[in-house]
This record gives sequence, C-alpha cells and structure tokens, in this order.
Amino acid sequence: MNLSMSFVVLLAILVSAANLVLAHVGVTNIDSSWYDAHATFYGDMSGGETMQGACGYGDLFKEGYGLETAALSTALFNNGQTCGACFELMCVNSQYCKPNTGTIKITATNFCPPNYAEPVQYHWCNPPNSHFDLSMKMFLSFAEYRGGIVPVKFRRVMCNKSGGVRFEIKGNPYFIMVLVYNVGGAGDVSNVEIRGHKSNWIAMSRNWGQIWNTGSNLVGQRLSFVVRTSDGRSLAFFNVAPENWGFGQTYEGKLNF
Ligand SMILES: *[C@@H]1O[C@H](CO)[C@@H](O)[C@H](O)[C@H]1NC(C)=O
Repeated sequence: MNLSMSFVVLLAILVSAANLVLAHVGVTNIDSSWYDAHATFYGDMSGGETMQGACGYGDLFKEGYGLETAALSTALFNNGQTCGACFELMCVNSQYCKPNTGTIKITATNFCPPNYAEPVQYHWCNPPNSHFDLSMKMFLSFAEYRGGIVPVKFRRVMCNKSGGVRFEIKGNPYFIMVLVYNVGGAGDVSNVEIRGHKSNWIAMSRNWGQIWNTGSNLVGQRLSFVVRTSDGRSLAFFNVAPENWGFGQTYEGKLNF
C-alpha cells in the first residue's frame, strides 16, 4: 500500500467513526438537533409485525405500538438498548418526499440486521449507517412508494403511551423473564429491579431487547418493580402482580413515565 492509499483508508475509517459517533449522539440524546439517516419500508399496508422482533415485543397491535414502529440499523439499535425509544422523522432532499407532509413519529421495536450477501447499495442497515426500516403505512405517509429508500432527518422525542407500564411475565420458576413495554417518557428501559413481598430487591439482567431476567424463584409472591429509563428517571411499581401471578400473564402498573 502506498502513502496516498493509506491516507484514503485512514480517511474512510475516520469518516466511519465520525458517523458512528454522530449516530450515537442522535440516538441517545433527547435534544432538538436533527441527524441524518435513510428510511425504507417493509411489509404491506396492514403492517403487520405480529411476530416477536428483536426487542422482545410480541403482537405490536395488542401491545399498543401498532404501525407507528420501525426496525433500526446496528448503529441506532445499540444491541437492543434503544428498544422502546421514540423518534421523529422527516423526509428530506429527495424528489420522492411527499410535499407538506410534516413529520412522523415512531417507536423503535425491532432490529434491521446488516446485510452482507447483497450488493453494497442494499447495505442500508450495515454499520455505520443510521437507518429506519418503517412500516409501509408510515413510509407512505411522507414518501412515494417508488422512492423505495429516502434520506431523512431524525431526532429523539419523548414517548407518549396511554395507561401504565406493562409487565409480561414469561419463563419458568427458575428463570423468570419479564418483558417491560408501553413505556412513556424516554421509552428505553436501562435498568429493572424486581422484588417479591418476601424478598429483597433483586437487580434483573437484560436478556435481550426489553426482556429482563432473574434466576430467583418468586412464585407465590406479590411482585413489585423499579424501572429506570435511559434518561435516569426511575419509577416504582408496587404490588403490580398478585400472589397468584402466572407465566404468560401481563400486569399493568398504575404509573407511566
Ligand atoms: C409526546 O408529546 C410531546 C409533548 O407534546 C411531544 O413533544 C413528543 O413529540 C410526543 N412524542 C411522540 C412519540 O408522539
């Protein structure tokens, strides 16, 4: 490799690194600045992700997320830490943007995986790209179908959910897993603690997405939770699940962020 080639490679690495840092700022900071990304769409007009995605949410309609959702590229998804965060997007600088359509708002509910098998023009979701794969309905609300992919500006916004934070209990007595969803405010949960009425507070671990687990057996105990979102706010949900709580059941807290 000669000197000028090394320089080009170095420059490419620096540009990638700068993109990653910017993507990170855009995804973690709730501020008013807009960041650059692209958007595509999946599926048809009915939606319709009803299967469990990479955040652990199940039926997005039943869970209240509906079609106002997106799968995020590696750079934005941040290993699932961004699951539940809300974003505002506008279509920019493309003949395929529909005029005067304003912005759309979505919740991050899935991962758009990198794609190394296809030619490079399909590497939207590969690092370091910031990318939103939207439901078709959301995409068509600001861009033309034939555009396929459009440049967008995005920023983090607070989430507004109706009702309380919900806790779906899965797993088994020796490995309790809790999906935490319908989270308002920052939306992305960064810490969960659980306690049975006869136990102390136990820190849960992120299993994947927004599914949190503990190996402590809390069967037959009323369950309480403390949930912290990425902005550092915490809420306590006392006695959310009764003594006879069951696996596969969902319990709703009285509060939301
Ligand atoms: C939630 O409400 C606030 C205040 O009205 C607004 O700024 C924000 O964009 C809303 N978020 C979503 C995801 O609709």
